[in-house]
Amino acid sequence: MASAPGALPLLGHTLAFAHKPLEFISGLPAHGDLVRVKLGPLTVHVVCHPDLVHRVLTEDRVFDKGGPVFEKLREVGGDGVISCPAQAHRRQRRLVQPAFHRARMPGYAGVMAEEITALTDEWRHGQVLDVPATMYQLTTAVTTRCLFTPGKQDTAGLPELYDSIDAVTRGINRRAMLPVPMADKLPTPGNRRYERARSHLTRVTETLIAGHRAKGLDQGDLLSVLLAPQDDASPGLTDAEIHAQVINFLMAGVETTAGLLSWAWHLVGTHPAVRDRLQAEVDSVLGGRPAQHADLPALELTGRVLTEALRLYPPAWLLTRSMTTGAELGGHHLPAGATIMFSAYQVHRRASVYPDPERFDPDRWRDTRKPPPGTLLPFGGGPRKCIGDTFATVEATLALATIAARWQLDPVPGPRVHPARRITLIPDKLTMRLSERGAA
Ligand code: HEM
Repeated sequence: MASAPGALPLLGHTLAFAHKPLEFISGLPAHGDLVRVKLGPLTVHVVCHPDLVHRVLTEDRVFDKGGPVFEKLREVGGDGVISCPAQAHRRQRRLVQPAFHRARMPGYAGVMAEEITALTDEWRHGQVLDVPATMYQLTTAVTTRCLFTPGKQDTAGLPELYDSIDAVTRGINRRAMLPVPMADKLPTPGNRRYERARSHLTRVTETLIAGHRAKGLDQGDLLSVLLAPQDDASPGLTDAEIHAQVINFLMAGVETTAGLLSWAWHLVGTHPAVRDRLQAEVDSVLGGRPAQHADLPALELTGRVLTEALRLYPPAWLLTRSMTTGAELGGHHLPAGATIMFSAYQVHRRASVYPDPERFDPDRWRDTRKPPPGTLLPFGGGPRKCIGDTFATVEATLALATIAARWQLDPVPGPRVHPARRITLIPDKLTMRLSERGAA
C-alpha cells in the first residue's frame, strides 16, 4: 500500500493535514485507492475509491465506529446512537427510529416554518448578516423544538446553546487533530472554554429531560420516544443512554444543517443565474407565502441546489472507523484495530464520477437515477446512515425556499470564503447583505 509523501520524523503528516485538511485529503487518490497516512503516532488508512468506501460503510461489524473524532465525541456525548459500537447499535437505532418516521415530518415542518418566520421577521433591508451564526440560530431552535419540545421554563438556556455546541465541536476538533493526551488537561483558554461549554450542554440536557419527565406526556417528539417505558422483553434506554442520545442529536443535527444552509447561500449568492431561477421557482410555487411540507415536491430546483451544495461541501466531510478484526481491503490485509478514514469531500470531487467537479451545477441532478454506490455520501450509508437525512432535507428546503421568496442574500466584498478547519465543513466567515425583494 502506498504511503502519502512528505511524512516528517515523529509528526508524520500531522502538519500538512492540520494546516490544509481538505487539500491534503483531496491529493491522496493520486497515490492509490487506499493510502497510508501518519498522524503523529497514529497510522491511518485513507480509503479513496468509492467501491471501497461503500464496503466500509456497509460492513459495519468489521469497520466499526472508532477513530479520534468518535473517541472525543464519546467523551462528551457518551455512547449514543452516533458513536456506539455496532453491537449496541441495532437496539439503539430501533429505539430512536420512531421519532424519524415519515408520518412525523409534516408536524416537524410546521415547527420549522414557524422558526424560519420568527428568524426572518427580525431582518431589515440592507442589513449585513453573519450567515453561519444565523443559520446556527435557526437549526438550534428547530432541533430543540422538534426533538425535545422544551417547555417555556426550559428554554432559558437555549440562546446560549449554539455557542456551547460550537465551542464543544471546536474542542473535539482540536483534540482529534492533535492526539496528545496531556494537551487536553492544560488550563489553556481553549480547554477552559471547552469544559464550560461541555458543562452547559450537560445542564441543558438534564433540564430538558427533567422537564419532559415532569410533564409525563407523549409530546410526539424524540424525547417522548426515548422516555417511553418499554416491555420486559425489550428494555428501554437507561438514564445515561437517554442523556447520551440528547447530546448526540444536538451535536449531529445543528451544525451540519447550519453548514448546508450556509454553503447553499454562498453558492446561490455567487451564481446569479441560479439565483434568478431559484427566485422564479419559489415565486411560482409559493406566491409570496412561507413554504410548507406540501410544497416540497414542487420545489425541484431548490432541492437540486441543496444536493449540489451537499456534493461540493458535505458537512460531515471526514469520517473514521476502527477495524474489529483483520480483513482484506483493496487487495491489502489490514489488522484488527486499524484506523480507517474516508472523505465525502474527496469522493464527491472525483472527475470520473462528476465531470467538471469543481463547478456548481444543480442541473447535474436533473438525472434522478441513483448515483453508483459510494459516490454520493453526504449522509453516509449502510446501517449507520444518517437517521436525520429527511429531517435535515425538509428543514433546509423550507428555509431556502421561504427565505429566497422574500430576501436576496448578496456577497459582501472581502476575502475569499473558505471552509473552517474543523470536523464539520462550515464557512469560516461568511457575511452577506440582505435585500428585501421588491424593496426600492
Ligand atoms: C445536512 C445535515 C446533515 C448531514 C450532512 C448529516 C450527516 C451525517 C452522516 C454523514 C452520518 C453518518 C456518520 C458515520 O457514518 O459515521 C450521520 C449520522 C447521524 N446523523 Fe446526521 N447529518 C445531518 C443532519 C442530521 C440531523 C438533522 C439529525 C437529527 C436531528 C442527525 C442525526 C444523525 C444521527 C443520530 C446519526 C447516527 C446514525 C446511526 O449511526 O445510526 N443528522 N449524519
